[in-house]
Amino acid sequence: MKARKIEDGIFWMGAIDWETRLFDSLIPLPDGTSYNAYLIQGSEKTMLIDTVEPTMIDELMSQLEGVETIDYIVSLHAEQDHSGGIPQVLLRYPDAKVIVSPKAKGMLLDLMTIPENAFMVVNDGDIVSLGDKTVEFIHMPWVHWPETMVAYLKENKMLFSCDLFGSHLATTDLYASDEGRVYEACKRYYAEIMMPFRTIVKKNLEKLKPYSINTIAPSHGPIHSNPAAIVAAHDQWVNSPSKNLVVLPYISMHSSTQKMVHHLIASLVEKGVRVEPFNMTVTDIGKLAIALVDAGTIVIGTPTVLAGPHPNIVYATCLANALRPKAKFASIIGSYGWGGKTVDILAGMIPNLKVELIEPYLAKGRPLASDFKALDGMAETIALKHKENGFI
Ligand code: FEO
Repeated sequence: MKARKIEDGIFWMGAIDWETRLFDSLIPLPDGTSYNAYLIQGSEKTMLIDTVEPTMIDELMSQLEGVETIDYIVSLHAEQDHSGGIPQVLLRYPDAKVIVSPKAKGMLLDLMTIPENAFMVVNDGDIVSLGDKTVEFIHMPWVHWPETMVAYLKENKMLFSCDLFGSHLATTDLYASDEGRVYEACKRYYAEIMMPFRTIVKKNLEKLKPYSINTIAPSHGPIHSNPAAIVAAHDQWVNSPSKNLVVLPYISMHSSTQKMVHHLIASLVEKGVRVEPFNMTVTDIGKLAIALVDAGTIVIGTPTVLAGPHPNIVYATCLANALRPKAKFASIIGSYGWGGKTVDILAGMIPNLKVELIEPYLAKGRPLASDFKALDGMAETIALKHKENGFI
């Protein structure tokens, strides 16, 4: 795809990745993604903001044909999907300075081959003039790596927000015109990438408040020409209380756990609690991550395998712990044949979750009436906790 004009002297460049279905060998990409770079041509200097995933560098190099000079290559974030093309761009524009935060310089030197004298380090709030355009660099450490920053083009009120406000979405739309689709993709992106840094994102949303922003140009997904909507969505994901929602990742081997899961769902619904169950044999973990953004309670359902939880449930639990959702309560249900340490193992795997553990319940063998009664008791407790905490 050719470069696309955003405003006078400002162009989208980069690559639409229609093919990749797994990012970082971990995150499902049901809709592909894009690696966005931006070219800003001022009256005196030209700046390229970020590059692309190295496997797609040919696309960027082709878009840059005809651009005689690049004075600055900005690396907002050292992760290779944005920085990985810098060495090749530098080969064509050897006099360009690579603008980085102090931390990014060391990280890029570790990650790729860039001459040390090519770097130009900027501090928080530093401004670089391109003549009739000026760019301010705003440091945002841990959104989501320690070296991250964003760039604000003052004259156009345009924020180049790096991964923040991004979405893994391959589309021919330059702008987020299909708002529902982009909202879902942004929420998935927030859940998978930003949620573990929720309190830091919260601080940085505050940091952006003094800036008048007409356009947000992220490093993945479409550009936001209605920045208020996407900022408000992030504000809600970060700041709003948990919802009246139980997220229930589960696995069943011989249907005992499945019967318990089905019973608990029905019992919770009777008591006015919403439930989103996820069968972990087929779940897209991105959908589970999205649900975790709002969950008030997480209940894990597992059979006992070799004295512990099912390995797929270990994976889901590890993921939930890493994503640090704001859920307030957790519990465990399932079944066992003759013994095991399922509850102890799972309870020990969630130190990052600031949750109160509601008494877990495992049935011995197939669940009987007494087991279903115990699940009704658990549902009652969850409904009560949700009411007490204002989720209902
Ligand atoms: Fe899109 Fe954190 O890199």
